[in-house]
Amino acid sequence: MVVPYTHEPFTDFTVKENKQAIEEAIQYVKGQLGKDYPLIIGGERIATEDKITSYNPANHSEIIGTVSKANQDLAEQAMEKAQEAFKTWSRWTPEARANVLFRAAAISRRRKHEFSAWMVYEIGKPWKEADADSAEAIDFLEFYARQMLEYKDGAEINSRPIEHNAFTYLPLGVGVTVSPWNLPFAIMAGTTVGPMVAGNTILLKPASLTPVITYKFMEVLEEAGMPKGVVNFIPGSGSDIGDYLVEHPKTRFINFTGSKEVGTSIYEKAAKIQPGQNFLKKTAIEMGGKDTIIVDREGNLDIATDAIVQSAFGFSGQKCSACSRVVAHADVYEELIERVKAKTEELTIDAPQHASTYMGPVCEESAFDKILEYIEIGKSEATLVTGGTGDKSEGYFVKPTIFKDADPNARIMQEEIFGPVVAFSKANDIDELIDIANNTDYGLTGAIISDNRDHLEKARHEFHVGNLYFNRGCTAAIVGYQPFGGFKMSGTDTKAGGPGYILHFMEPKTVCDQF
Ligand code: SER
Repeated sequence: MVVPYTHEPFTDFTVKENKQAIEEAIQYVKGQLGKDYPLIIGGERIATEDKITSYNPANHSEIIGTVSKANQDLAEQAMEKAQEAFKTWSRWTPEARANVLFRAAAISRRRKHEFSAWMVYEIGKPWKEADADSAEAIDFLEFYARQMLEYKDGAEINSRPIEHNAFTYLPLGVGVTVSPWNLPFAIMAGTTVGPMVAGNTILLKPASLTPVITYKFMEVLEEAGMPKGVVNFIPGSGSDIGDYLVEHPKTRFINFTGSKEVGTSIYEKAAKIQPGQNFLKKTAIEMGGKDTIIVDREGNLDIATDAIVQSAFGFSGQKCSACSRVVAHADVYEELIERVKAKTEELTIDAPQHASTYMGPVCEESAFDKILEYIEIGKSEATLVTGGTGDKSEGYFVKPTIFKDADPNARIMQEEIFGPVVAFSKANDIDELIDIANNTDYGLTGAIISDNRDHLEKARHEFHVGNLYFNRGCTAAIVGYQPFGGFKMSGTDTKAGGPGYILHFMEPKTVCDQF
């Protein structure tokens, strides 16, 4: 028996011991920077000449580590090793597979601050954001392990006196996980171990900005007893090994989280049947968002202000769930903007290893440039309220930026910027508030701040997003509490951390035994 799932608590860094623990972890990781990491294929370490270099986005002269880069030959080797490992891993009992995840959760929990410290350096996460990312990774391990136990005997179906019917779930085979840099521990781990515990074997291609933390997680899986070849660590470029593996005739499924451009291209490539392929590939594709917070006339403006600032500027707005649009009722619009502006201007923007930092850098130079281009577009489409500048001399820092009086169809209200930029529009009643909120190609998260229960119930039915929140912000979903995934161009809505997640990576089999 396992104890019921509850989520990993967040660390209170105002407690002296906790603050000291993360500071020590940050010092430890600082001493580990600059090392070289190999690929891991079939349990074997393979170093290549070609490398990916991971930099600190808060200080781009600092190298976090160099990591070997797989090419198509190595990707093919990894495919063969994963095929071989599937033969035995898929026959391990569900309990034995779940136990690898439970042990990995325990190890990750012991090393939690170290993992958070790697994220502070490798992707610029302030302490609180890094701690939440580590907690979520642990949650995925605990949650999907239990989910495997739930499905281990299949599901109940009917039998008649002349027969016995059975309905069981079988793993698919080898799958490819392509993970994002923005939740480099949580989403990377979740999208790997979900299909893995179901009995599949995995080719893990991490984001090129965060390969070192991924390598550290491979160490955890190995220590937890994962057999060789079950997860293979193959960083590399999307256009080279990413496409190669997506199109590979032996790839059974692709589990992707990232941009809409890459996600839609994977979806299309995976749909094409390759010579020698006699099955349809499954895809779980989670993409972006253009997420809106609605502030109603009867909305509490203190709650609204906190929700907007946290959701728009936490981790520099680089979450697919981040609030990048606010639609407020005309009667509260100006006062709300004044409050959000005042609170935003108090935020501390600095290197993320410091305790006082609220917001660190954005992830890399091309993101910095793109965000500043959008800010220029915003200046021509709307009125700048605060922010509007950036500085990339040492790290990629962008000031938290607010625009007001944006037309709902303006580019800054429609296109994903993935940075600390939020635009406000005005509306006159609840119908118009919801219409504007729904007026995007995406449908990931949304929130409504209102004390009017009738309006909340209307939003429950009409605000068309996969994750809808009442009277709080639109980020920070918790595994097993707020299953996460979106509608429309946000993806296939596989609901990470939700009921039935691992069933996406299995196929049910019916056996009828007549006697
Ligand atoms: N699950 C995260 C959140 O809810 C985003 O990926 O913020």
